[in-house]
Amino acid sequence: MKEAQKIWMNGELLDWADAQIQVLSHGLHYGSSVFEGIRAYGTDDGPAVFRLDDHLARLERSAAVYHMPLPFSRSELRDAVHEVVASNGLTEGCYIRPIAWRGYGVMGLYPLDAPVDVAIAAWEWGAYLGEESLRSGIRAKISSWRRIGHNTIPATAKAGGQYLNSILAKIESHKGGYDEALLLNENGFVADGSGENLFLVRAGTLTTPPPQASILEGITRATVMSLAEEEGIPVSEREIARAELYAADEVFITGTAAEVCPVREVDDFPIDAPGPITRRLQERFFDAVVGRDPRSAEWLDYVTVPARAGP
Ligand SMILES: Cc1ncc(COP(=O)(O)O)c(C=O)c1O
Repeated sequence: MKEAQKIWMNGELLDWADAQIQVLSHGLHYGSSVFEGIRAYGTDDGPAVFRLDDHLARLERSAAVYHMPLPFSRSELRDAVHEVVASNGLTEGCYIRPIAWRGYGVMGLYPLDAPVDVAIAAWEWGAYLGEESLRSGIRAKISSWRRIGHNTIPATAKAGGQYLNSILAKIESHKGGYDEALLLNENGFVADGSGENLFLVRAGTLTTPPPQASILEGITRATVMSLAEEEGIPVSEREIARAELYAADEVFITGTAAEVCPVREVDDFPIDAPGPITRRLQERFFDAVVGRDPRSAEWLDYVTVPARAGP
C-alpha cells in the first residue's frame, strides 16, 4: 500500500501519520466497526467514484444493524470521500475505505455508550488478486471453514468482526498454495469468496447464491447482474452445491477489490477461464467504471472538491 498523505477523521482532514486511535477503542477489542470498500477510477473527466451512493447506503444499513448512529449524513460522507480522493491527488483511481467504529469509552460488551468515530482513507491499490489473475483467472479452494451463519452474525452487514471468518479461510487457502478461498455456508451450499461474491455459468445461464446463503450483497454482484440482464444473459439466484462448480462452464468472482475475476480452478478441477460470458461481463464492467459506456453513467460520481469551511 502506498501511503497517501491525508486521512479524513471525524470531520477533519489529517496528515496520514496523525490519524490515530486510542488503544482501548471498543472496535479494536471486539470488532465493533462497520466499513466499506469503494473504488474510484480515472476517467476522461477526472476520477469518478463507482456507485458511491450505494456504498454509503450499505454503510448506513450495516451501522443500523449494530445500533451505531453515524454522526455524519450521507451527503457529508460523500463530500468527505471526494475530499480524500482529491486532496491525495488520486486522479488515476484508488481504493477508498470508510470505516465507523465504536470508539473509546466503555470496555464492557454493551457498546451503546461508546462514541461512534468515522474515518475515510484512500490509497492506490491495483488488481487485488494480481493483474494476471484478471486475464487468466485464479486457483480457488473450498475452505474447511464454514461461512458464519446469518443467525450468528448477519452477513448482509459489513462489520469488522465477521472478517475473522474470512481471514481464517484466506490464510488456509494461501498456505495451501491457492489464490483464494471459497466458503460453504452452514447448510453446505456455496456462499462466497473470502471477500468476493461468486458466479457460475452453465449452459449460458449465470447463477449466483441468494442473500439467504449468508452472502454480503455485493455492489459489484448487483452491477454484474444488471449488466448481464442488458446483455440478454439469463441470471438465476439459487443455492449452489460445491460439485456444480467442478462441472461449471465458467466461474468468476466479483468484488470492489477483486473486480470481475475469472476462476480457472476450483479444488484442482480445471475450468475454462476466462470463458466468453466472463470475458463479456468483464469488458462491460471495466467500460462502465471508467466511463466508456454511457449506459452506466449513473453509477459514476465524478470527484468535485468540496470547499472546506474555515481558515
Ligand atoms: C464477504 C464479501 N462478499 C462479497 C464482497 C463484494 O462486495 P462488493 O462488490 O460490494 O465489494 C465483499 C467485499 O466487500 C465481501 O467482503
